[in-house]
Amino acid sequence: MTTWHRLGLKTELLPRVPAAFTLDRWSVAVFHHEGQFRAISNACNHKGGPLCEGRLHGEFVMCPWHAWEYSVITGKGPEGYDEEQVPVFAVEEREDGVYVRTPPVQPRRLVRHKPSHLLETHPKPSGAPPRVLVLSTTAMDDVNPRFSTSDALLEHALDQAKRRGADTQYIKLRDLKFRHCEGNYSKAARACTWPCAITERDPDDQLTAVYEGLVHWADVVLIGTPIRWGNASSLYYKMLERLNCVQNQVTIQDKVLIRNKVAAFIITGGQDNIQAVAGAMFTFWAELGFVFPPFPFIAHSRGWDAEDMQNNVRQVKMSDTLKEAAYELLDRALDFWTIIDRHKAEMDKPMERAGRKASTLPEPEEIEEMTV
Ligand code: FES
Repeated sequence: MTTWHRLGLKTELLPRVPAAFTLDRWSVAVFHHEGQFRAISNACNHKGGPLCEGRLHGEFVMCPWHAWEYSVITGKGPEGYDEEQVPVFAVEEREDGVYVRTPPVQPRRLVRHKPSHLLETHPKPSGAPPRVLVLSTTAMDDVNPRFSTSDALLEHALDQAKRRGADTQYIKLRDLKFRHCEGNYSKAARACTWPCAITERDPDDQLTAVYEGLVHWADVVLIGTPIRWGNASSLYYKMLERLNCVQNQVTIQDKVLIRNKVAAFIITGGQDNIQAVAGAMFTFWAELGFVFPPFPFIAHSRGWDAEDMQNNVRQVKMSDTLKEAAYELLDRALDFWTIIDRHKAEMDKPMERAGRKASTLPEPEEIEEMTV
C-alpha cells in the first residue's frame, strides 16, 4: 500500500539531515542536496552500513563502513558500479511539510559478486598428513638480513614437523605487503566482516595467505615473536588487528571459524617480559578458537640488564637445549592435535557463541528490507 509519511516542516528538517527515518518497515536516509530533499534506503547493499552517516560528495554518499557509494538521486553506484542500486523513495515538499512515500519508486538491485575464495569450504582430503603452519612475525630487512633468535627456533620446529611427515608452510609476515586494520569494528561490530573488507577490496593486500593458512589450511600453528620493549613485535600486532574479523564472527554471527586447531608459541627477547607476552598471546589465540598443548610455549631471555645482544645471539645459535625444546614443542603440539582430531565429533558439539559471556548484539535494522 502506498503511503505518504510527513517528516516535519522544511525548517525543522534542514538542521537534522542527513538523518534516518523508520517509515513502515523501511529505514530511509534523507539528504538535502542542491536545494532538494532526497530519500534513499539507509542500508548499504554491501553489509547494511548506515548510509545516513556517510559523507556526501556531490550527489554521492559514501557508506561509512567500507566506502561503497550511491547517488542520493538515483540510488545507483558511480559509473562502472551502477548496476548496484539502493531503493529510492519519492519526496514531496508541501506547504505543511516534507513527505516521503513508501514503498520505494526504485527497488534495491544487488549485484551477485563472486564470493571470496575465503568463504569456500576447503575440505582436507581424508588420510592427508597433518598440516603445520609456522608463522614468523619478526621484522627485518631481507636484503641485509640478520640472525633472528625466534626465527631460528621456529625453523628448528619446522624441521621437526617435516621429519614427522607433516605438510608444512612457513610464512614470514615481513614478506607480505598488507595494510593496517582500518578499525571498522570501532564503527560498529557488524562493520568488521569476514573476509576482511580490506582483503575484499584491495587485490594487492597479501594477508590472504595468513587468513587461508589459519582458517582453512593449518591443523597446528606455531607463532614466533621477538620481544620488543616488553611486547610482541609490531608486525605481530599489525597482523593481530587484521584478525579481529575472524574473532568477530563469533560475536556477530555465532560462527566459529577456528575449530580443532592447535597453537603454540616461541618467544625470545634479549631482555625480559616473557610471561606478559605469552599471557597476551594466549588470550588472543584462545579467543580465536585455538587450543593449546601442554606447556604451549618455549621462550628465551637473559634478563633486563643483559645488554650484550651479540652474546644473546651466540647463545641461541649454540644452544642444543633450545633446539631440542623447539623440537619438543612441535611434538607436543602435533601429538595434541592428533588426540583432538580423534575426538573431533565431541569437539564439534555446538556451543552457543563459543561459550563467550559477552552480551549479544541487538538485531540489525532493515534485515527485512535487505531481502526485498
Ligand atoms: S560499504 Fe557499506 S556496508 Fe560495506
